[in-house]
Amino acid sequence: MRSFLGLILISMGLFGAEVVQVGDKFKDSTKCKACHTPIVKQWEQSWHAKSHYDSDEYFQKTIDYVARKDNRKSLNTIKIECATCHNPRISVTSTNAEDEALASVGLDKNSAATKALKSDGISEGINCVVCHNIDQIHDELPENKRGMNRVTWMKSGTMTGPYGDAKSPYHKVEPRDFMDKNPNQLCFVCHANDKSEDGHSFVNMQSEFKSNGKQCVDCHMGARTQGVAATLRLSNGQAHTRMVRNHGFTGGHIEAMWQDALGVDVKKGKQTLEITLSNPQPHAIPSGFGSREILIEAQYASGGKVVKIEALSLTSKYLSKRDKPTIPHLAVKTISSVSIPALSSKTFVLPMPTGAESVNIVVSYRLVNDEVRELLDLKDPIWSKKMVIKKLNLKL
Ligand code: HEC
Ligand code: HEC
Ligand code: HEC
Ligand code: HEC
Ligand code: HEC
Repeated sequence: MRSFLGLILISMGLFGAEVVQVGDKFKDSTKCKACHTPIVKQWEQSWHAKSHYDSDEYFQKTIDYVARKDNRKSLNTIKIECATCHNPRISVTSTNAEDEALASVGLDKNSAATKALKSDGISEGINCVVCHNIDQIHDELPENKRGMNRVTWMKSGTMTGPYGDAKSPYHKVEPRDFMDKNPNQLCFVCHANDKSEDGHSFVNMQSEFKSNGKQCVDCHMGARTQGVAATLRLSNGQAHTRMVRNHGFTGGHIEAMWQDALGVDVKKGKQTLEITLSNPQPHAIPSGFGSREILIEAQYASGGKVVKIEALSLTSKYLSKRDKPTIPHLAVKTISSVSIPALSSKTFVLPMPTGAESVNIVVSYRLVNDEVRELLDLKDPIWSKKMVIKKLNLKL
């Protein structure tokens, strides 16, 4: 009866997230560690493991800021909205007018939403049972249905994975194409169509994606190499050898990843420098989240002394309902957006002072531009750190 109803809802386009409780045996990564030690350790270092209110300062302060500025909604309601992609195994997926009324007078301490947001099952963010417990991905749904609203879950205890012949004494297994031949489909469940409170789509990795033959996992989990999927020894005393990938999901927060992420070419004009940035990746850079930034800095020197510094910031800027500079999640419009599209290049021109003999050029990346860092008062040095893409020195 339940699945019959589910079918009707899907065909009517009213499909909403259906919660399937994750049993205690599977709910967090500590339950997997005994047999998947290397994978759990890699994942613990990843930002998927930090996608939670308590673990990511930027995420936390964005939620607090939205709740402060948008007085129609309580903090819990915003947290639950964001959980759609950041904590999709949460057991409460919406709040109603009654919840909002109780929250407004501070009587929501024991509400179902508060309890769900505190449960240890979700405090790991995007953990094993987010990706490996998906049964189907519904690409027939509208663009804006993402995260938990785009998937149906497996029954608890069945793990979907890349292999057709795996056997585990702890859980059932089922192979899926989105774990093997078509992994981009899995990544696009969340890495697409990120929207503000007012429905303004400020970034969309799926629509900007231009295939160069590589999948997201080829670059962000690395190539498949020989290893073990499970460390558990089989009846012959050895673990099964398999082709596996790394679960570190390394990306924009890791400085080493930025080295040579863009090509940089410099030409001398009359009183200018023409700097061409080329992007060999299949998505724009910057991309991913709304206030990322590429910085081009040129330090001109003469007689061994710096005579002039020129800098250019390539980033996106947003306006609120009240026409004020704001953060992506409160934007009603994007007023400027500078990034290098996938598999393309762009040229930027910097003035060159007369008499300069040489120039040092540094192209770098920052996770958060000045404007948003100040609005949110972000403290951790990671948000302002300049991660070097390329350094060049040129005689003029
Ligand atoms: C008692 C040991 C054990 C525990 C605990 C365990 N697994 Fe496994 N798992 C295995 C074995 C054995 C395999 C098969 C490995 C092989 O065939 O190479 C496996 C396979 C898998 C696969 C691949 C399935 C496929 O079809 O490709 C996934 C995904 C997986 N486990 C996820 C998990 C998750 C998530 C947890 C924690 C909730 C977990 N496992 C806990 C032993 C375990
Ligand atoms: C359930 C939603 C979801 C799915 C599915 C998902 N991601 Fe993510 N991903 C996120 C969120 C949310 C973050 C941001 C976490 C943070 O910074 O707090 C993120 C961050 C990342 C990052 C940035 C890491 C960094 O260091 O900057 C990379 C790379 C990434 N994901 C790759 C992938 C790939 C590849 C896939 C597909 C195999 C995938 N993701 C599937 C939601 C998801
Ligand atoms: C963001 C999604 C995502 C998360 C989170 C995730 N995995 Fe995976 N996992 C994948 C993908 C994609 C593959 C297929 C990689 C490939 O092509 O071999 C995979 C493969 C595996 C495999 C088979 C070995 C391999 O490398 O192919 C095992 C076992 C596994 N994962 C266990 C886990 C465990 C345990 C956790 C939690 C610590 C976890 N995964 C978290 C996406 C994820
Ligand atoms: C050919 C390799 C390649 C492929 C394929 C690829 N990326 Fe990237 N991606 C990069 C590089 C290089 C960077 C910049 C350095 C870094 O963050 O790793 C990057 C950056 C990112 C970032 C941070 C962006 C920013 O500006 O802050 C995210 C998120 C991301 N990728 C997700 C994805 C997803 C999701 C897919 C699949 C739809 C994907 N990538 C496919 C190479 C790739
Ligand atoms: C459609 C899925 C989706 C929803 C819904 C969503 N996010 Fe995200 N969010 C992502 C993905 C994917 C990333 C990773 C992008 C990257 O690393 O560049 C991310 C990254 C972020 C980051 C950057 C974190 C970092 O460490 O750099 C912040 C801040 C953020 N989200 C805030 C929010 C807030 C606040 C909400 C709710 C109002 C929300 N998100 C709802 C998908 C989503």
